[in-house]
Amino acid sequence: MITLNVNKKRYEVDVSPDVPLLWVIRDHLKLTGTKYGCGMSLCGACTVHIDGKAQRSCQLPVKEAQGKEITTIEGVPENHPVKKAWVKEQVPQCGYCQPGQIMQAIALLSEKPNPKETDLIDFMNGNLCRCGTYGKIKTAILAAAKEGRK
Ligand code: FES
Ligand code: FES
Repeated sequence: MITLNVNKKRYEVDVSPDVPLLWVIRDHLKLTGTKYGCGMSLCGACTVHIDGKAQRSCQLPVKEAQGKEITTIEGVPENHPVKKAWVKEQVPQCGYCQPGQIMQAIALLSEKPNPKETDLIDFMNGNLCRCGTYGKIKTAILAAAKEGRK
């Protein structure tokens, strides 16, 4: 049995310790907001927070997440400044990459509450969007950062 703390709830799951965390989150816990894109740590669709840091879940063996605080997109409150900025700026097109984008953006702002454009580009660079919403993502992150400074 693997014990996981996800979105402040404790779960026990009967899986192989080497199964990627993403599959446990989606298939066992039914938290399907976190997406599968490449499965190779290359696109960012599967980004979650582990102990507050953005991490790709598609290649992370579930055993390595035991005892840590895991947060998925479902664990981010609707009134979080980043989610609110996403809605206000109408960032998503198809939406597939957006949970990962939001989790990466929240991690950025927790490390750098007032990011420079270069910080933003460096930090978000590994989160791909086939719909090309990058401009709106940038605007939303800067708006959330401004909101956080009020
Ligand atoms: S699905 Fe994990 S990085 Fe692409
Ligand atoms: S909104 Fe479609 S992939 Fe990003």
